[in-house]
Amino acid sequence: MSRQDSDDTRFHDGFCFRPLGSSGLGAVLEFQSNDLDTILAIFRDHAETILGYFYAARGLMVVKELQGIRDDPQALVELSRHFGSEVENYHQTLTSPRFFHDSVDEILILSNAQPCNHLPPPRPVGHGSIPLRTRFPDQVNWHTDQSYRRPPPDITLLLAIELPPRDQGQTLFADCVAALSALAPERQKMLQGLQGIHAPSWIGRSREAVEMGDRQLDLLPHQSPQQQPLVRKHPVSGEKSLYICEEKQMDFVDGPIAGLESGPQGEGAKLLRELLRHATCDEFVYVHEWESGDLVIADNRNLLHCATWYDATQYIRLMWRTTVMGNAGEEYASEEKTWIPRDGSDVMAGMENA
Ligand SMILES: [Fe+2]
Repeated sequence: MSRQDSDDTRFHDGFCFRPLGSSGLGAVLEFQSNDLDTILAIFRDHAETILGYFYAARGLMVVKELQGIRDDPQALVELSRHFGSEVENYHQTLTSPRFFHDSVDEILILSNAQPCNHLPPPRPVGHGSIPLRTRFPDQVNWHTDQSYRRPPPDITLLLAIELPPRDQGQTLFADCVAALSALAPERQKMLQGLQGIHAPSWIGRSREAVEMGDRQLDLLPHQSPQQQPLVRKHPVSGEKSLYICEEKQMDFVDGPIAGLESGPQGEGAKLLRELLRHATCDEFVYVHEWESGDLVIADNRNLLHCATWYDATQYIRLMWRTTVMGNAGEEYASEEKTWIPRDGSDVMAGMENA
């Protein structure tokens, strides 16, 4: 089916770009036809152009009207290949089987429906008001995907399959290049060389777990928390950005910042909270109101993101996700993947409650 406005001169070779907003963060990619085979062919024929727009938009792109992928999930894997040399197989990463797609190993399910049972964050004070309060700590769960692995995944592709009503279940993105460059030069200098300690949320090392005195899991070597530079240099743009996660995905036993006083009340925690508050203030944040068939492609190397509250007692939210890797940057050159067991053990051994 073609658009009625087939004489619309916006489209060249069947596709067009427009900015997502006025800040320079993000681009929208639209197609003249929503036929999936046609769209896949455009991605194949114009991959370099599309990647150029993606990076020019600081690693955030909304692709419209990809509803056709629901009936052809492999198409999501094919699209993902344009954004990195490896589309990750979630059966081989530190991922609970409840998130696995039925038939495609490279797709992760994010949904409040069973068996995934992935619930939204709590409703923040003021949710439903205009504008939405997005800043940490009013809004929680700001993170980059699976930062507890080294090298961490480069880019996430997130496809909306089923959605709650508008104004619920948005995804927020924070521009961590802009956030870093807005810091005072001496603050930026102080951050250089520091390492955050990132950890899975379920191993008893998050801020909340440490404050509650939860049991810490005994970990196999490939499950250990991983240090990541607080300031990363993007391998494509060369720009520097903050690379942090919120308290759920950092290690508050030994960190969250290596070399600074550890624990929920330590100097490291204070610095992390300061940086999160700074990076998530309105001027750096884009709020994505999902529409059915939206595919959002987001660069984990320079963006933070989080999903907002929705009424999970009333609505189902179902997203399909892939992650790609292969170009983490010079800090990770030639590194072995930390999460691959060297002793033949199961990748999730001892993590059955994840
Ligand atoms: Fe995420």
